[in-house]
Amino acid sequence: MLRAALDAAVGIAREAGDLLMRHRSHMDELVVDRKGRIDLVTTADRESETLVRERLADAFPDHDVHGEEFGDSSRGADYRWIVDPLDGTTNFVHGHPMFVVAIGLLHHGDPVVGVVHAPALRETFTAARGEGACLDGRPMRVSTTTKLEEAMVATGFPYRRAERADNNLGNFGRIALDVRGIRRGGSAALDLAYVACGRFDAFWELHLEPWDVAAGACLVREAGGRVTDALGGNDWLTGGHIVASNAGPLHEVVRGRLDAPEARA
Ligand code: IPD
Ligand code: CA
Ligand code: CA
Repeated sequence: MLRAALDAAVGIAREAGDLLMRHRSHMDELVVDRKGRIDLVTTADRESETLVRERLADAFPDHDVHGEEFGDSSRGADYRWIVDPLDGTTNFVHGHPMFVVAIGLLHHGDPVVGVVHAPALRETFTAARGEGACLDGRPMRVSTTTKLEEAMVATGFPYRRAERADNNLGNFGRIALDVRGIRRGGSAALDLAYVACGRFDAFWELHLEPWDVAAGACLVREAGGRVTDALGGNDWLTGGHIVASNAGPLHEVVRGRLDAPEARA
């Protein structure tokens, strides 16, 4: 079952990625709307999710689907697909190549399949529970870095950062001075994929949604990494805050520098 689901998700993510790339070559025609002051949504986001939902409904009519743009159609099925049809919309709108289609599958709430496809970067990250993780079909593993001063870490900032006290800037300041490198890529799903393949040693972020993290967290776990919430617990899928790492001592070092997260509004 998981192999069939993974193969289907890879095909669907690539088809959606092709759709995004077609939009990318006609950016003058892209309709860009605002969900908030700086939170954008485009025709590419919506068309990508429509395509993914149609393909998933054809292939797995008994499964539930929860996507960013069209919501949760769950009816209590054992399997639930979690879809970010375009993670990195701000990058996409600005012509920056770090954007992905992210498709995760949960079984009774636990991630069992993850696909993060970056069409402009021509890379596809995949994982199925118990089968390991791959980058373009080749096995990938997390890094072995143990020290903060040798670590390349990543994070992100919420769209409502100007309005929120817990906007991650304090955490950023506490970690940025002690690491070898720190990146803000603009796609949480790709950040997680980069932890899974060892390009990043750790990643944390606050105020994320399930579709930002479901697929990437499956990659990290299957590549030998660790995923927790900011308190070190398991509430990272719906709790809004996540820490992912190579599962070494860095995990607690990074996590220990984060402010206690505020309760979700
Ligand atoms: C966003 C990206 C970004 C993260 C934001 C997310 P979107 O998703 O993952 O890296 O910092 O919090 O909302 O809006 O591009 O799908
Ligand atoms: Ca997202
Ligand atoms: Ca999105």
